Amino acid sequence: MKVLIATEKPFNAKAVEAIKKELESQNHCVKLLEKYTSTDELKDAVKDAEAMIVRSDKITKEILDAAPKLKVVVRAGAGYDSIDTAYAKEKGVVVENTPGQNSNAVAELVFGLLIYMCRSCFSGKSGCELKGKKLGILAFGNIGRHVARIANGFGMEVYGFSRSHAENPKKEDGVQFVATKEELFKQCDIVSVHLPANEHTKQSVGYDVVNLMKKGGILVNTARKEVINEPELLRLMGEREDLKFVTDIKPDADAEFAKFEGRYFTTPKKMGAQTAEANANAGIAAAQQINAYFKDGCTKFQVNK
Ligand code: 3PG
Repeated sequence: MKVLIATEKPFNAKAVEAIKKELESQNHCVKLLEKYTSTDELKDAVKDAEAMIVRSDKITKEILDAAPKLKVVVRAGAGYDSIDTAYAKEKGVVVENTPGQNSNAVAELVFGLLIYMCRSCFSGKSGCELKGKKLGILAFGNIGRHVARIANGFGMEVYGFSRSHAENPKKEDGVQFVATKEELFKQCDIVSVHLPANEHTKQSVGYDVVNLMKKGGILVNTARKEVINEPELLRLMGEREDLKFVTDIKPDADAEFAKFEGRYFTTPKKMGAQTAEANANAGIAAAQQINAYFKDGCTKFQVNK
Protein backbone atom coordinates (compact mmCIF):
# COMPACT_ATOMS: atom_id res chain seq x y z
CA MET A 1 0.00 0.00 0.00
CA LYS A 2 1.13 3.58 -0.55
CA VAL A 3 1.43 5.43 2.74
CA LEU A 4 1.98 9.17 2.84
CA ILE A 5 3.53 10.81 5.91
CA ALA A 6 2.41 14.44 5.57
CA THR A 7 3.70 16.71 8.29
CA GLU A 8 3.84 20.45 7.90
CA LYS A 9 5.63 20.36 11.29
CA PRO A 10 7.95 17.35 10.84
CA PHE A 11 8.73 14.56 13.28
CA ASN A 12 12.38 14.36 14.23
CA ALA A 13 14.56 12.40 11.79
CA LYS A 14 14.99 9.33 14.01
CA ALA A 15 11.24 9.04 14.48
CA VAL A 16 10.73 9.25 10.70
CA GLU A 17 13.24 6.43 10.21
CA ALA A 18 11.44 4.27 12.80
CA ILE A 19 8.02 4.99 11.27
CA LYS A 20 9.29 4.04 7.81
CA LYS A 21 10.86 0.86 9.15
CA GLU A 22 7.60 -0.15 10.79
CA LEU A 23 5.59 0.42 7.59
CA GLU A 24 8.19 -1.17 5.32
CA SER A 25 8.18 -4.30 7.50
CA GLN A 26 4.70 -4.90 5.99
CA ASN A 27 5.92 -4.00 2.51
CA HIS A 28 4.14 -0.67 2.40
CA CYS A 29 5.66 1.98 0.20
CA VAL A 30 6.31 5.20 2.13
CA LYS A 31 6.30 8.75 0.76
CA LEU A 32 7.32 11.72 2.90
CA LEU A 33 6.00 15.27 2.55
CA GLU A 34 7.41 17.62 5.19
CA LYS A 35 7.25 21.39 5.74
CA TYR A 36 4.87 21.85 2.83
CA THR A 37 3.65 25.39 2.39
CA SER A 38 0.58 25.06 0.18
CA THR A 39 -2.61 23.01 -0.06
CA ASP A 40 -1.66 22.22 -3.65
CA GLU A 41 1.49 20.41 -2.51
CA LEU A 42 -0.57 18.28 -0.14
CA LYS A 43 -3.26 17.65 -2.78
CA ASP A 44 -0.61 16.49 -5.20
CA ALA A 45 1.01 14.19 -2.62
CA VAL A 46 -2.27 12.50 -1.56
CA LYS A 47 -3.50 11.65 -5.04
CA ASP A 48 -2.22 8.06 -4.96
CA ALA A 49 -2.08 7.56 -1.16
CA GLU A 50 -4.01 4.66 0.36
CA ALA A 51 -3.09 5.62 3.93
CA MET A 52 -1.80 8.76 5.60
CA ILE A 53 -0.04 9.72 8.80
CA VAL A 54 -0.52 13.36 9.83
CA ARG A 55 -0.07 15.66 12.82
CA SER A 56 -2.14 18.87 13.09
CA ASP A 57 -2.28 18.97 9.29
CA LYS A 58 -5.63 20.15 7.97
CA ILE A 59 -7.39 17.27 6.25
CA THR A 60 -10.32 19.08 4.70
CA LYS A 61 -12.96 18.10 2.14
CA GLU A 62 -10.67 19.47 -0.55
CA ILE A 63 -7.81 17.18 0.53
CA LEU A 64 -10.08 14.15 0.93
CA ASP A 65 -11.53 14.74 -2.53
CA ALA A 66 -8.01 14.85 -3.93
CA ALA A 67 -7.30 11.39 -2.45
CA PRO A 68 -9.56 8.91 -4.29
CA LYS A 69 -7.65 5.82 -3.06
CA LEU A 70 -7.44 6.85 0.59
CA LYS A 71 -8.72 4.29 3.11
CA VAL A 72 -7.26 5.35 6.43
CA VAL A 73 -5.82 8.53 7.99
CA VAL A 74 -4.01 8.27 11.30
CA ARG A 75 -3.49 11.44 13.28
CA ALA A 76 -0.23 10.82 15.17
CA GLY A 77 -1.44 12.56 18.29
CA ALA A 78 -4.59 13.12 20.31
CA GLY A 79 -6.65 15.99 18.87
CA TYR A 80 -8.33 15.36 15.52
CA ASP A 81 -10.20 18.66 15.20
CA SER A 82 -8.02 19.42 12.14
CA ILE A 83 -9.63 16.57 10.20
CA ASP A 84 -13.08 16.65 8.59
CA THR A 85 -14.05 13.36 10.23
CA ALA A 86 -17.69 13.49 9.10
CA TYR A 87 -16.79 13.96 5.45
CA ALA A 88 -14.15 11.23 5.76
CA LYS A 89 -16.86 8.93 7.09
CA GLU A 90 -19.13 9.81 4.17
CA LYS A 91 -16.30 8.83 1.84
CA GLY A 92 -15.63 5.60 3.75
CA VAL A 93 -12.26 6.83 5.04
CA VAL A 94 -11.36 5.60 8.53
CA VAL A 95 -9.85 8.30 10.77
CA GLU A 96 -7.84 7.23 13.83
CA ASN A 97 -5.74 8.95 16.48
CA THR A 98 -3.03 7.64 18.82
CA PRO A 99 -4.32 8.58 22.28
CA GLY A 100 -1.82 8.95 25.10
CA GLN A 101 1.32 8.63 22.98
CA ASN A 102 2.47 12.24 23.24
CA SER A 103 0.76 13.20 26.52
CA ASN A 104 3.79 13.28 28.78
CA ALA A 105 5.56 15.74 26.47
CA VAL A 106 2.61 18.13 26.59
CA ALA A 107 2.33 17.76 30.37
CA GLU A 108 6.02 18.55 30.89
CA LEU A 109 5.69 21.70 28.79
CA VAL A 110 2.91 22.92 31.10
CA PHE A 111 5.49 23.17 33.86
CA GLY A 112 8.09 24.75 31.58
CA LEU A 113 5.60 27.49 30.73
CA LEU A 114 4.55 27.84 34.35
CA ILE A 115 8.04 28.19 35.74
CA TYR A 116 8.88 30.75 33.06
CA MET A 117 5.83 32.80 34.08
CA CYS A 118 6.27 32.29 37.84
CA ARG A 119 9.93 33.34 37.62
CA SER A 120 9.06 36.67 36.00
CA CYS A 121 9.97 35.52 32.47
CA PHE A 122 13.56 34.83 33.60
CA SER A 123 14.13 38.57 33.86
CA GLY A 124 15.95 38.38 37.19
CA LYS A 125 13.00 39.91 39.07
CA SER A 126 11.69 38.04 42.10
CA GLY A 127 8.99 35.48 41.29
CA CYS A 128 7.08 32.73 43.05
CA GLU A 129 7.25 28.97 43.53
CA LEU A 130 4.88 26.21 42.50
CA LYS A 131 5.08 24.34 45.83
CA GLY A 132 1.91 24.82 47.85
CA LYS A 133 -0.01 26.44 44.99
CA LYS A 134 -3.39 25.09 43.94
CA LEU A 135 -3.37 23.75 40.39
CA GLY A 136 -6.64 23.11 38.57
CA ILE A 137 -6.71 20.67 35.67
CA LEU A 138 -9.56 21.41 33.29
CA ALA A 139 -10.47 18.09 31.60
CA PHE A 140 -8.85 14.99 32.95
CA GLY A 141 -7.66 12.79 30.12
CA ASN A 142 -4.22 11.37 29.33
CA ILE A 143 -2.46 14.74 29.54
CA GLY A 144 -4.34 15.78 32.68
CA ARG A 145 -3.18 12.62 34.44
CA HIS A 146 0.47 13.36 33.64
CA VAL A 147 0.04 16.97 34.74
CA ALA A 148 -1.37 15.76 38.07
CA ARG A 149 1.55 13.35 38.60
CA ILE A 150 4.15 16.05 37.95
CA ALA A 151 2.28 18.66 40.02
CA ASN A 152 2.22 16.31 42.98
CA GLY A 153 6.00 16.04 42.63
CA PHE A 154 6.25 19.83 42.87
CA GLY A 155 4.24 19.73 46.09
CA MET A 156 1.22 21.45 44.57
CA GLU A 157 -2.37 20.92 45.68
CA VAL A 158 -4.02 19.36 42.67
CA TYR A 159 -7.67 19.85 41.68
CA GLY A 160 -9.47 18.44 38.67
CA PHE A 161 -12.67 18.86 36.75
CA SER A 162 -13.98 16.37 34.27
CA ARG A 163 -17.47 15.45 33.13
CA SER A 164 -16.98 11.86 34.30
CA HIS A 165 -16.14 12.99 37.86
CA ALA A 166 -18.71 15.81 38.06
CA GLU A 167 -21.55 13.73 39.55
CA ASN A 168 -19.41 12.22 42.26
CA PRO A 169 -16.45 14.53 42.91
CA LYS A 170 -13.98 13.01 45.35
CA LYS A 171 -10.28 12.75 46.03
CA GLU A 172 -8.51 10.17 43.87
CA ASP A 173 -4.76 9.56 43.49
CA GLY A 174 -3.76 12.94 44.86
CA VAL A 175 -6.36 14.88 42.85
CA GLN A 176 -9.36 16.58 44.45
CA PHE A 177 -12.14 16.54 41.87
CA VAL A 178 -14.73 19.32 41.95
CA ALA A 179 -18.30 19.35 40.66
CA THR A 180 -18.12 22.31 38.31
CA LYS A 181 -15.69 24.19 36.10
CA GLU A 182 -16.54 27.36 38.05
CA GLU A 183 -15.51 25.72 41.32
CA LEU A 184 -12.16 24.78 39.76
CA PHE A 185 -11.40 28.36 38.72
CA LYS A 186 -12.57 29.71 42.09
CA GLN A 187 -10.37 27.32 44.08
CA CYS A 188 -7.14 27.43 42.11
CA ASP A 189 -4.14 29.73 41.72
CA ILE A 190 -3.35 28.18 38.35
CA VAL A 191 -5.67 26.52 35.83
CA SER A 192 -4.26 24.33 33.08
CA VAL A 193 -6.60 23.75 30.13
CA HIS A 194 -6.70 20.29 28.50
CA LEU A 195 -10.02 20.41 26.67
CA PRO A 196 -10.37 19.03 23.16
CA ALA A 197 -11.80 21.54 20.67
CA ASN A 198 -15.37 20.58 19.86
CA GLU A 199 -18.84 22.12 19.72
CA HIS A 200 -19.16 21.94 23.53
CA THR A 201 -15.78 23.44 24.40
CA LYS A 202 -15.03 26.09 21.77
CA GLN A 203 -14.90 29.59 23.34
CA SER A 204 -15.75 28.03 26.71
CA VAL A 205 -12.91 29.66 28.68
CA GLY A 206 -13.88 33.31 28.83
CA TYR A 207 -14.48 36.37 30.99
CA ASP A 208 -16.90 35.00 33.59
CA VAL A 209 -15.07 31.83 34.46
CA VAL A 210 -11.50 33.20 34.41
CA ASN A 211 -12.63 36.17 36.48
CA LEU A 212 -13.40 33.72 39.29
CA MET A 213 -9.66 33.17 39.77
CA LYS A 214 -7.90 34.53 42.81
CA LYS A 215 -5.54 37.48 42.68
CA GLY A 216 -2.42 36.55 40.73
CA GLY A 217 -4.12 33.71 38.82
CA ILE A 218 -2.36 32.05 35.92
CA LEU A 219 -4.18 30.47 32.97
CA VAL A 220 -2.17 27.88 30.97
CA ASN A 221 -3.34 26.61 27.59
CA THR A 222 -1.62 23.69 25.90
CA ALA A 223 -4.84 22.45 24.28
CA ARG A 224 -6.34 24.42 21.37
CA LYS A 225 -6.68 28.15 20.79
CA GLU A 226 -10.37 27.69 19.92
CA VAL A 227 -11.30 26.80 23.52
CA ILE A 228 -10.31 30.29 24.71
CA ASN A 229 -12.65 33.20 24.13
CA GLU A 230 -9.91 35.61 23.14
CA PRO A 231 -11.87 38.91 23.08
CA GLU A 232 -13.24 38.18 26.56
CA LEU A 233 -9.86 37.17 27.96
CA LEU A 234 -8.28 40.31 26.49
CA ARG A 235 -10.97 42.44 28.14
CA LEU A 236 -10.43 40.69 31.48
CA MET A 237 -6.65 41.02 31.38
CA GLY A 238 -7.16 44.71 30.63
CA GLU A 239 -9.33 45.04 33.72
CA ARG A 240 -7.28 42.78 36.03
CA GLU A 241 -3.60 43.61 36.13
CA ASP A 242 -2.90 40.56 38.28
CA LEU A 243 -3.90 37.90 35.73
CA LYS A 244 -1.39 36.00 33.59
CA PHE A 245 -1.83 33.88 30.48
CA VAL A 246 0.70 31.39 29.06
CA THR A 247 -0.06 29.39 25.97
CA ASP A 248 1.46 26.87 23.59
CA ILE A 249 -0.96 27.88 20.84
CA LYS A 250 -0.46 31.36 19.53
CA PRO A 251 -3.82 33.18 19.85
CA ASP A 252 -5.30 34.93 16.82
CA ALA A 253 -5.07 38.12 18.90
CA ASP A 254 -1.37 37.56 19.72
CA ALA A 255 -0.45 41.19 19.01
CA GLU A 256 -3.10 42.43 21.44
CA PHE A 257 -2.15 39.97 24.17
CA ALA A 258 1.52 40.92 23.69
CA LYS A 259 0.67 44.35 25.12
CA PHE A 260 0.42 42.66 28.53
CA GLU A 261 4.16 42.43 28.84
CA GLY A 262 5.31 40.13 31.65
CA ARG A 263 1.81 38.68 31.95
CA TYR A 264 1.54 36.90 28.62
CA PHE A 265 3.73 34.41 26.80
CA THR A 266 3.17 32.22 23.76
CA THR A 267 5.46 29.72 22.11
CA PRO A 268 6.05 30.69 18.47
CA LYS A 269 4.72 27.35 17.20
CA LYS A 270 2.83 24.65 19.09
CA MET A 271 5.60 22.57 20.63
CA GLY A 272 3.88 20.52 23.35
CA ALA A 273 4.41 17.28 21.47
CA GLN A 274 7.73 18.30 19.89
CA THR A 275 10.05 15.87 21.66
CA ALA A 276 12.01 12.95 20.26
CA GLU A 277 10.08 10.61 22.54
CA ALA A 278 6.62 11.91 21.67
CA ASN A 279 7.42 11.96 17.93
CA ALA A 280 8.60 8.35 18.08
CA ASN A 281 5.77 7.11 20.32
CA ALA A 282 2.95 8.74 18.33
CA GLY A 283 4.54 8.15 14.91
CA ILE A 284 5.33 4.47 15.47
CA ALA A 285 1.89 3.87 17.00
CA ALA A 286 0.36 5.45 13.87
CA ALA A 287 2.43 3.16 11.64
CA GLN A 288 1.44 0.10 13.68
CA GLN A 289 -2.22 1.09 13.44
CA ILE A 290 -1.92 1.35 9.64
CA ASN A 291 -0.26 -2.07 9.53
CA ALA A 292 -3.03 -3.55 11.68
CA TYR A 293 -5.71 -1.92 9.53
CA PHE A 294 -4.39 -3.44 6.31
CA LYS A 295 -3.47 -6.78 7.89
CA ASP A 296 -6.57 -7.53 10.00
CA GLY A 297 -9.01 -4.69 9.30
CA CYS A 298 -8.38 -3.45 12.86
CA THR A 299 -10.08 -0.09 13.58
CA LYS A 300 -9.65 0.01 17.38
CA PHE A 301 -8.66 3.68 17.41
CA GLN A 302 -11.20 4.90 14.86
CA VAL A 303 -12.71 8.25 15.83
CA ASN A 304 -15.33 8.54 13.06
CA LYS A 305 -17.34 5.34 13.57
C1 3PG B 1 -2.13 16.57 19.92
O1 3PG B 1 -3.33 16.84 19.72
O2 3PG B 1 -1.71 15.41 19.88
C2 3PG B 1 -1.18 17.66 20.31
O3 3PG B 1 -1.81 18.89 20.30
C3 3PG B 1 0.08 17.69 19.47
O4 3PG B 1 -0.13 18.17 18.18
P1 3PG B 1 1.04 18.22 17.08
O5 3PG B 1 1.32 16.84 16.63
O6 3PG B 1 0.50 19.07 15.99
O7 3PG B 1 2.25 18.84 17.71
